[in-house]
Amino acid sequence: MKVAAIIPAAGTGQRMQQHIPKQYLSFGGKPILAHTLTVLENLPEIAEITVVAQPSALDFCQTQVITPFGFKKVLRLVPGGKERQDSVYNALKVLQRQNEWDLILVHDGVRPFVTPAEVLRVIRAAGEHGAAILALPAQDTVKKVNRAGRIKKTLNRQDIWLAQTPQVFQTAIIWRAFLEAYAREYYGTDEASLVEALGLPVRVEPGSPFNIKVTTPEDLILAEAIYRLRQQG
Ligand code: C5P
Repeated sequence: MKVAAIIPAAGTGQRMQQHIPKQYLSFGGKPILAHTLTVLENLPEIAEITVVAQPSALDFCQTQVITPFGFKKVLRLVPGGKERQDSVYNALKVLQRQNEWDLILVHDGVRPFVTPAEVLRVIRAAGEHGAAILALPAQDTVKKVNRAGRIKKTLNRQDIWLAQTPQVFQTAIIWRAFLEAYAREYYGTDEASLVEALGLPVRVEPGSPFNIKVTTPEDLILAEAIYRLRQQG
């Protein structure tokens, strides 16, 4: 099974309140994006990786992350778009021109703590079912709240899962989903939502609370703690 990975890392990181985008901030002496790429680089199941960076940060990404850490599977660096969906689409278009892939794996550049076992579980599930994502069962009670701050509804916690990445798809499915989404001018915050819109099933594999998306300054503190914990085994 040939798997190509797409790593969207073209966000501006406004919520981090830093001058440099969050994917380039470091913990443990290494940029967040480099930690993420290391996990995928070391997985034999992944044949190659396409990184998506902001158009203005392509050189920075190459010289500060890809070259110094010697990633051999990162074969392509592609400019990102306005939304995450546009960034992933830019990578998909380049991949289609290059090769035939059984599966396309998408993983946020700012989720450095995904484990090899988690990635493999999602790849296997997508190989079997066509589409699969990692997600976390909700632990808190979830409320639907209106813009005025009033609770509209309490959702059944057993039915609520928080979507994470990786999200993995058979190539024909992710292509159909993107083409259909753009045709309908639909924007989703993950790839699975585009596949759901086709009415196709997406399998959910249980993830871990450690697979955080490093988004805010608080997340960076958490990231450092998780890193230290992992170092201690
Ligand atoms: O926007 P969000 O925080 O959900 O970002 C998830 C991932 O998507 C991050 O790695 C971010 O860099 C990336 N992204 C992107 N292009 C955008 C917006 C976000 O590649 N236009």
